[in-house]
Amino acid sequence: MPVNLKGRSLDSLLNFTTDEVNYLIDLSIDLKKSKYQGLHINNRPLVGKNIAIMFQKDSTRTRCAFEVAAADLGMSVTYIGPQGSNFGKKESIEDTAKVLGRFYDGIEFRGFAQADVDALAKYSGVPVWNGLTDDEHPTQIIADFMTMKEKLGDLKGKKMVFIGDFKNNMGHSCLIGAAFTGMHIVLCGPQSYQKEVRKDVIDKCKKLFELNGGSLSFSTNKLEAAKDADVIYTDVWVSLGEPFELFESRINELQNFQVDMAMIKAAKPSVMFLHCLPAFHDDHTEFSKEIAAKFGAKFPVVKTGAMEVTDEVFQSKYNKAFDEAENRMHSIKAIMLATIGY
Ligand code: CP
Repeated sequence: MPVNLKGRSLDSLLNFTTDEVNYLIDLSIDLKKSKYQGLHINNRPLVGKNIAIMFQKDSTRTRCAFEVAAADLGMSVTYIGPQGSNFGKKESIEDTAKVLGRFYDGIEFRGFAQADVDALAKYSGVPVWNGLTDDEHPTQIIADFMTMKEKLGDLKGKKMVFIGDFKNNMGHSCLIGAAFTGMHIVLCGPQSYQKEVRKDVIDKCKKLFELNGGSLSFSTNKLEAAKDADVIYTDVWVSLGEPFELFESRINELQNFQVDMAMIKAAKPSVMFLHCLPAFHDDHTEFSKEIAAKFGAKFPVVKTGAMEVTDEVFQSKYNKAFDEAENRMHSIKAIMLATIGY
């Protein structure tokens, strides 16, 4: 059956089917090729449409991807930042959604509670795109699996390791992406994190693995986990929106789960390293400088300011995180085009 996503919201990827997810990945790849050929210049299929992008947390990639993709498609964009509206403070989510739905053809939302993005989708009457919540980062996942597909071809049966804080939104999102594409995913990190992976997500993914192939397993040993891996993926140890005070306990828990060259060499020779970014791989950020100064003596693994990935890996040929970052724009364009409709 042909895929038709017109009018749909991407609040959770789990609301989509395997065909729909694969359609978005393939459309993203097609739109990237079109842009490289310059075909977008005379093809603005959404001229006259307008979108709002709302951020309760800061962003570089997601904001810029929505703005450039909207411009390429011919749409106007209104940016509403963390301090820029009454949303959730003096005006309910329900009322805000009803207002924005009268102005705009689509709404991106980055916040904390998944219930907020779900409410925006319910009450606005227009497509709503989840630009990251505590539960999921679905627009990121389309870009990530697009990147893997560009480099690996068919993803069925390929192996991916998500290492580090796999109980966070990106760990869950990578699990969901693997289940839709039939990949074998290993969640590698502390044993105690395993019970924090949401059971409802595991149950839904198990059904998808039965349908699409692939599997979920856990590991507490990064060199064993890396064996035969096609993709090694990590994310920051303290997520956006979590307090700085968590760093010491997270470094303590995750010090054995830094992506280093030994882990890369334990994987397939063709392995790619992915990271949704921003990454702590050196001491060139305020945070990583402070981490190195405060905790470097106690935890040598962070003494250079690198946390989840060493600078050696980040600067190496294995790192495809900047291709992945570029693909945020092509994939967000695909998501908007498919759901607003043309
Ligand atoms: N990966 C990601 O969501 O990046 P930003 O926080 O810069 O949007």
